[in-house]
Amino acid sequence: MCGIIGYTGKEKVRDVILDALELLEYRGYDSAGIAYGEKEGTVSVCKCAGRVADLRKKCGSLGQDATYGIGHTRWATHGGVCDLNAHPHQVGKVTLVHNGIIENYKELTKEYELENELVSETDTEVAAALLNHFYKGNPDEAITKLVGVLKGTFALVMLFADQPGRIFSIRNVSPIVATYSEAGAMLASDVTALCRFTNRYFVVPEYHILELLQDGVRLSTLTGETVEPEYQVADWELNSSEKGAYPFYMEKEIMEQPDAIRATMEGRIVDGFPDFSKDGLPDSVLKNCERICVVACGTAMHAGLIAQSLVKSMLQMHIDVELASEFMYADPVVDEKTLVVAVSQSGETIDTLEALKYAKKKGATCMSILNVKGSSISRESDYVLYTNAGPEIAVASTKAYTTQLTVFYLLVARIAYIRGKMSEDEVKSYIRDFEQVPAAVEQVLANKKQIHLIAKNVITAKDLFMIGRGLDYALLLEGSLKLKEVSYIHSEAYASGELKHGPIALITTDTPVVALITQEKLKQKELSNIKEVRSRGADVVLFIKESLQDPTTKEYETVALPNVRDAFMGIPASVALQLLAYYVSADKGYDVDKPRNLAKVVTVE
Ligand code: G6P
Repeated sequence: MCGIIGYTGKEKVRDVILDALELLEYRGYDSAGIAYGEKEGTVSVCKCAGRVADLRKKCGSLGQDATYGIGHTRWATHGGVCDLNAHPHQVGKVTLVHNGIIENYKELTKEYELENELVSETDTEVAAALLNHFYKGNPDEAITKLVGVLKGTFALVMLFADQPGRIFSIRNVSPIVATYSEAGAMLASDVTALCRFTNRYFVVPEYHILELLQDGVRLSTLTGETVEPEYQVADWELNSSEKGAYPFYMEKEIMEQPDAIRATMEGRIVDGFPDFSKDGLPDSVLKNCERICVVACGTAMHAGLIAQSLVKSMLQMHIDVELASEFMYADPVVDEKTLVVAVSQSGETIDTLEALKYAKKKGATCMSILNVKGSSISRESDYVLYTNAGPEIAVASTKAYTTQLTVFYLLVARIAYIRGKMSEDEVKSYIRDFEQVPAAVEQVLANKKQIHLIAKNVITAKDLFMIGRGLDYALLLEGSLKLKEVSYIHSEAYASGELKHGPIALITTDTPVVALITQEKLKQKELSNIKEVRSRGADVVLFIKESLQDPTTKEYETVALPNVRDAFMGIPASVALQLLAYYVSADKGYDVDKPRNLAKVVTVE
């Protein structure tokens, strides 16, 4: 959480920083600020509660002559949302921005008697005051002393008033990537913000000091040894993190799904077989494990629930899906025979990262399904399968989810084959059918106007239920999360058969119900449950696989979903539910990409 940027180079520093902050805003957007240094070496700060757009207005013509600077967009943890708590924090000669949490900030305040120097309620300002306390003219020395006493997670970017043109950074857990290109030296919380200039970047190693200079970068250990940055290449196009003609990233990213799914399949189907050899994943890993445990948060966890349903039905194998934030506190059954699969778009979610580290300690084989290359989770994993969805900017995850499902659909088929649960012919026919999925998604997208019209049926609801059975129930957990996060409608996904054990008490004429039927074997039972809510006055919107429609289903407002194998309906159905959530939010006039209180990358526990 929180987006950080630092830049020194040929471009207009102030504008580079403000533009980059806009790209990082999905990491937090309750306040923003910049600090910039001008030729004579003075460091000025401009910050405010609100969005980067508000900051831009507040800055006006300030900082036009800046030659180096840092910026921050905040997701508040310690201290409310106000100008004073916004970063950068300036104490004495030090100006600093921070992502993470300094857990011992209260103890440090007391121990070093910093109370009188603090004006905000933040943990960050304590780090600034302490760094100023340690600073005697040598930045590396002061930074080393500072990180020696800090407890918690941090990515810090620092300026010293008497070190013009120099930007320093250090991190523990919270991410920082950096680059030096023709345009100058730059660091950021993630690669999205660098892509405008270059796709070459390196991950700053933990507890290493990074310095950005006009003519290069310097990386060194805390004991002063120089380290060569290990550059890698982001295969994201330079402009793929821009919105283009779409009003919101969420719509753009929904529309990109056919291509994203194809990109995820690419190289993983060889001679009609699912194949992970290019990912360096040996079959022995999939063959020898006795159980699978998926750890993830939010939407990524919902992808795990679909995997669970596939693993049970296709492999009859034991699989747990655990909320990463609960995992290590719930005495999980994990050992050397467990394959732990961490699923994460960002690869930075701290709970998922910690869960994976815990599983590793227990001897499990650790694999991850990630979108962002070189992320923290990738570095902790024995094997990584990338989703190749390209940058996902909207806070509500869409293409990351369907590409995670794509990886699972292929992976489960590979496991089924090597464990003798599917014959060669069965696998080939499965893959042939799966190859129809991107086109099915295109069909859903072509029908977006109808989904937009149907969105009007739920837009005024305060409460809403989504009901389905089996795979459909798992899909609705995600559909419901999507709706509630972007539209603020209280939406609850419920297993249809369970409704009568309580929640049906809440069904009234004011409670619309979204029902999903994609599984032939569950259709009749689901239709009975729909009748039950209809009898209690609920308006029903039914999303149903086209081939399952019949005269009885026509009684409802219906969205027909393209016909693919029942098991694969997860992808087209999710896309339809994403569109529903998107249109409700957009028509309500909300800032779809930045729902209140949320952040895309959750780096605090
Ligand atoms: C946040 C985001 C969600 C995401 C979750 C897990 O809550 O808003 O969209 O699903 O974190 O993120 P990850 O990057 O681990 O997939």
